[in-house]
Amino acid sequence: MKPDTHVKIGNIVMKNPVMPASGTFGIELKELLDFNKLGAMLPKSITYKPKEGNPPRRIIETACGMLNAVGIQNKGIHYFLEHELEEYENFSSPLIISISGYSTEEFIEMVKLLHKRESVSGIELNISCPNLAVGGESFGMDPVATYDIVRAVRRHTDKAIIAKLTPNVGDITLIAKAAQEGGADAVSLINTVTAMAIDIKTRKPVLGNVTGGLSGPAIKPLAVRMVWEVANTITIPVIGVGGIMNANDAIEFIIAGASAVQVGTATYVTPAIMEEIITGVEEYMITYNVNSIEELRGSIIFDSSDNSCS
Ligand SMILES: Cc1cc2nc3c(=O)[nH]c(=O)nc-3n(C[C@H](O)[C@H](O)[C@H](O)COP(=O)(O)O)c2cc1C
Repeated sequence: MKPDTHVKIGNIVMKNPVMPASGTFGIELKELLDFNKLGAMLPKSITYKPKEGNPPRRIIETACGMLNAVGIQNKGIHYFLEHELEEYENFSSPLIISISGYSTEEFIEMVKLLHKRESVSGIELNISCPNLAVGGESFGMDPVATYDIVRAVRRHTDKAIIAKLTPNVGDITLIAKAAQEGGADAVSLINTVTAMAIDIKTRKPVLGNVTGGLSGPAIKPLAVRMVWEVANTITIPVIGVGGIMNANDAIEFIIAGASAVQVGTATYVTPAIMEEIITGVEEYMITYNVNSIEELRGSIIFDSSDNSCS
């Protein structure tokens, strides 16, 4: 029998648990990837006003991943709604829109605009941007700011709200709890890990922005640990992100407690990788007699209660 791969994120029903990670997926991929096969579509974050992004260099390859400081370059939400949204409306998979802002007001205005669009199933809050109201620390680095921003936008929509969490914090479970208490339907984690690289000949930082975000296989164990911790702390669904390169990686996140997964850097290597991951998860379920994603989720087994430091 075909296993049941569907998952629910708020009121979004996804036919399988695989969706893109914001910033690594766009309409230009439609010739290389079958969007109708995805659990959901999730384009790159948009901001209220157009944003130019960071100075070059913006992307470098590292030993085991990618370091980027793109800086959410985009044409702003009004341009997106007028010119880009309709392109995604040609596909049947649910559409989740990622938004980022520098103030609570900007987030609220964007949520109000998206709420009116029937083709938008959910909104992911990229709260890794600096919160200008509190002097530049990102919303997602502080539990109170996280609670406040989620609560503020929750009032304006009944569409699924996903809070995307940054790993650049001491205890991510506190942030996840705050997002849940604020009314989020799910959390996604992790965004990129703040990192840098230096050119030893010039002794200058390689990235124009000095620091950037590390993604890819290097961050997977960190992401799995954080997903596991968060899934054991909150009751809303957790979406696992970070270094998922193949179906086995996706399955690992689900066993750790994720209800769904996002795939980012891997798409740069193999544009149709999400199709392979969807098939691979299903094949695993058949091989291991797993009837549903829900049965697999959080099914990690511990041999002992060993919790020692190493
Ligand atoms: C080039 C690039 C651009 C990104 N842009 C965004 C973005 O606009 N919004 C966002 O929430 N995350 C963004 N991210 C982070 C990814 O969504 C994801 O959280 C992170 O890369 C970890 O997943 P991965 O290892 O599968 O890439 C970006 C990542 C990369 C590599």
